[in-house]
Amino acid sequence: MMTTTISDWFTVDRVGLAKKLARKPKQFVVVELMQNAWDAPGVTEVIFDCGFERGLVNISIRDNSPKGFDKLEHAYTLFAPSIKEKDFLARGRFNSGEKFVFSICKSARVETTSGTLVFDSSGRTELTDRLEVGSLITCSIPASRREYKKMLSTAERLIVPRGIKTIVNGTLLQPRIPEQTFPAILKTEAANEAGELKSQKRQTEVSIYTPKGNEGGWVYEMGIPIVATGDKWDYDVGQKIPVTMDREALTKPGFLPSLRLAVFNAAYARLDAEDCNQPWVHAAVESKKSNPAAVQHYMEKRFSTARVSYDPSDREANKLAVSKGFEIVHGNMLSRQAWERVKEVEAILPAGKVTPSPKPFTPGAPPYRLLDDPSPEMLRVKAYAVNLAREVIGCEVSVIFADDPKWFPLAVYGPSRDLILNVGRLGRKWFSLAAPESENRDRINRLLIHEWGHHYELDHLSSEYHEALCKIGAKLAEVVAAGKLPPL
Ligand SMILES: Nc1ncnc2c1ncn2[C@@H]1O[C@H](COP(=O)(O)OP(=O)(O)OP(=O)(O)O)[C@@H](O)[C@H]1O
Ligand SMILES: [Mg+2]
Repeated sequence: MMTTTISDWFTVDRVGLAKKLARKPKQFVVVELMQNAWDAPGVTEVIFDCGFERGLVNISIRDNSPKGFDKLEHAYTLFAPSIKEKDFLARGRFNSGEKFVFSICKSARVETTSGTLVFDSSGRTELTDRLEVGSLITCSIPASRREYKKMLSTAERLIVPRGIKTIVNGTLLQPRIPEQTFPAILKTEAANEAGELKSQKRQTEVSIYTPKGNEGGWVYEMGIPIVATGDKWDYDVGQKIPVTMDREALTKPGFLPSLRLAVFNAAYARLDAEDCNQPWVHAAVESKKSNPAAVQHYMEKRFSTARVSYDPSDREANKLAVSKGFEIVHGNMLSRQAWERVKEVEAILPAGKVTPSPKPFTPGAPPYRLLDDPSPEMLRVKAYAVNLAREVIGCEVSVIFADDPKWFPLAVYGPSRDLILNVGRLGRKWFSLAAPESENRDRINRLLIHEWGHHYELDHLSSEYHEALCKIGAKLAEVVAAGKLPPL
């Protein structure tokens, strides 16, 4: 029996590959060729020309890397160990991009320092012609005029790396000026000793740019656009990022959120109110790693500098907050995770902390001092208050005299049915009916009506409290008309 063994397991069907790539927008050729030229060791100048003629896009790209191709056969070998795969600062790693480009070409040619390769209808031909420096790739791609225009606009979107003069159709691509550059630790990938691509975290620099056109931002890998995000900025990451082999998507779902978080933490001061309503910003705020100053900024832009969270434990505090110009942030205005974070970094406090309602019996507060020797005038007010309560709120109250000038309020009436009058703050004169008599009587009555209102409702700013005061007023008018109330 005859057996035939071929060392290679696979063969690539080039035309088949081209057909699979038909779903990929053709502008990918610009990205792949530019990526290779910018990666070429020691390159300082790249000249890219692209024209359209009778259904063909003709491209030539030339660089001045002193070395040129490391291995000429890599121009036609898929997936060979790429010399760039271990280098975090080179864009190439799969050793496939250029082959993908060539597969959709009618013809292509590679000229470099080690020789020349021609790909055309008759196959692949190697010539001995060499360039002194650099490489020149030329190719013709069947394409429409629309596809050609897309290629040109892709070239314009590139972010030219520092130190590489890049000329597109005779025009120097102007280096784009970043709005900000900052360090960030992000997932990257590179080949290990065994040549296997592995991901790891590494510190790099991220630059943010105002996007070109009006479709929003993209994520870039060292100047090469990879995926559109629609965000406020283009993000250019200064090292390899986890990309799919077709350079169209990110392989790690957590990469973009981490990148956006780094942007939020560093560039938050540039976000206005509208930006702070974008989902990517909400997501950054929710992170446990969000910068407290950035979270503060977000809350200021989304709400206002004067803001409190709705406090169900102190309803009056919420109303006091509004009356003092605070904006109340309700539960449904932030996600659960955002609430956790804004509370953690104290970017908002509950109304009960900022504008607390008066609470004389706060737990832990010092006990108030009692007055030992109430004067006859005080005892007269006491008797009047007891009578008044009996008539207008229909209950027996006790009156206690406190003597606490420091913390205790002027007067308190609570559910225990004790009225505490704080002589320490009211002053002894308050109880005197000596001239100007009517003024003091007026004050005493007003304070008692206020306190009896709390028999029905504690919250001063509620409609229930308002209703209670009306009820007491009406009752008082009746009691006085019936002559039931002994005068003070
Ligand atoms: N302009 C160039 N200058 C020097 N070497 C080049 C150039 N273009 C291509 N090469 C060489 O050809 C190889 C194949 O390029 P190809 O784009 O297919 O793979 P890659 O850049 O290594 O990886 P990727 O598939 O991620 O782009 C590269 O690894 C590089 O060694
Ligand atoms: Mg490449």
